[in-house]
Amino acid sequence: MGGIAVCPGSFDPITYGHLDIIKRGAKVFDQVYVVVLNNSSKNPLFSVEERISLIEEVTKDIPNVKVDSFQGLLMDYASSVKASAVIRGLRAVSDFEYEMQITSMNRVLNDEVETFFIMTNNQYSFLSSSIVKEVAKYNGDISELVPDTVEKALKVKFQ
Ligand code: PNS
Repeated sequence: MGGIAVCPGSFDPITYGHLDIIKRGAKVFDQVYVVVLNNSSKNPLFSVEERISLIEEVTKDIPNVKVDSFQGLLMDYASSVKASAVIRGLRAVSDFEYEMQITSMNRVLNDEVETFFIMTNNQYSFLSSSIVKEVAKYNGDISELVPDTVEKALKVKFQ
């Protein structure tokens, strides 16, 4: 398909579920900007810099992925990098309503940018950053859920 796409999220922290979506998106688009949206309404565990550095580490072998951060509207970021697409992952029906709401709002803000949904791999359909943090907090095994670097960073946070 080609073109420039933005893959936005909180990525607090990045999981194998996110990575799966990023890798598959990078096969379809020429350039993918993975952007950490600095959403002030959430109380993140990792700073924006930490989240960027973890994403950079785990995507370093994907040449057409760039990692960035932005405070503000996703559509403003998309315009700033001349993206024509947004990539989002869909895990289950429960994601649908929220995704439909933000996609519709984004289309009101800029109808030149199209949102594409990639169905998450079955093995990650239950996975979220929140669930990973919960398990890591109580010392559970998260090795199947996040890359090694992220696992180590979570251990440090919850030490
Ligand atoms: O990983 P998340 O938390 O599901 O990602 C949500 C995110 C960051 C993509 C969404 O909150 C977002 O786009 N925030 C930026 C603010 C914005 O553009 N709002 C208008 C559309 S609702």
